[in-house]
Amino acid sequence: MPVTGVNGDLAVSSTIKNLDMSNIHIVKDPHELTQVAGQLFYKKAQSAIKDRGRFSVALSGGSTPKRLYQHLADEYAERINWNQVHLFWGDERNVAPDHEDSNFLMTVETLLRRLPIPPNIYRVKGENAPDSAAKQYENEILNFFGKNKVVFDLIFLGMGDDGHTASLFPESKALDISDRWVIENYVEKMNAWRITFTTKTINAARDIIFLISGIGKAEMLKNVLETQSIIVPSQMIQPSKGNLLWLIDEAAASELSKKQSRSDF
Ligand code: 6PG
Repeated sequence: MPVTGVNGDLAVSSTIKNLDMSNIHIVKDPHELTQVAGQLFYKKAQSAIKDRGRFSVALSGGSTPKRLYQHLADEYAERINWNQVHLFWGDERNVAPDHEDSNFLMTVETLLRRLPIPPNIYRVKGENAPDSAAKQYENEILNFFGKNKVVFDLIFLGMGDDGHTASLFPESKALDISDRWVIENYVEKMNAWRITFTTKTINAARDIIFLISGIGKAEMLKNVLETQSIIVPSQMIQPSKGNLLWLIDEAAASELSKKQSRSDF
């Protein structure tokens, strides 16, 4: 059953490009996943700063990405020129920055308040009405990159057990949107508004890394990586020119067919 938006239109082509199996990296456990993600963040930050004088990265919410932010504060606080890092969020809840559900607050508590030099922070103003928060954030991104040059160096994503990523949930309006970079998205099952990057923004990035951990993701991950037709939003992440890496631990990978590659770095 291909992914469709709320008005039932097919949100994307009904098959996925031949999935490049070499972009699946399986690690032992959540600890190793965090270590490897930290190394990738560092490597990509260093090369972006060297090549372009700045590193533009969009963070994700969720418990798996959260472990990475704690690890970055533990191991990389002194090793990265954070004043050359430009920190965005791929999605945010429609809440104030001091609300317990705020992805921004989670990042402050795990990473930002532990850095010697603050990065350049671009916060989604989740305290505002969802449509104006999305428009404001989109304008901020367009001002930062320039129109039609929105290319993040790195975007981290998590995946829900329903196959959502960022705040692109199955059967939600945002899946139909192709002319916006950021959009407000009403999530029926949560009875809540979110502000989220669209697939257009995510797929334009130089590097996209999914961080997926735990047995609870195993069945959905098998569907996402091994089903030819697009059935959930995570399969809509197909970078136009950039690289996509599925960084997953053995528990999340436990239902993948044995033929999957276990690429080594
Ligand atoms: C959010 C995230 C969301 C998250 C997934 C995975 O704002 O909640 O953007 O997409 O990454 O739900 O979360 P876990 O890693 O906690 O399973």
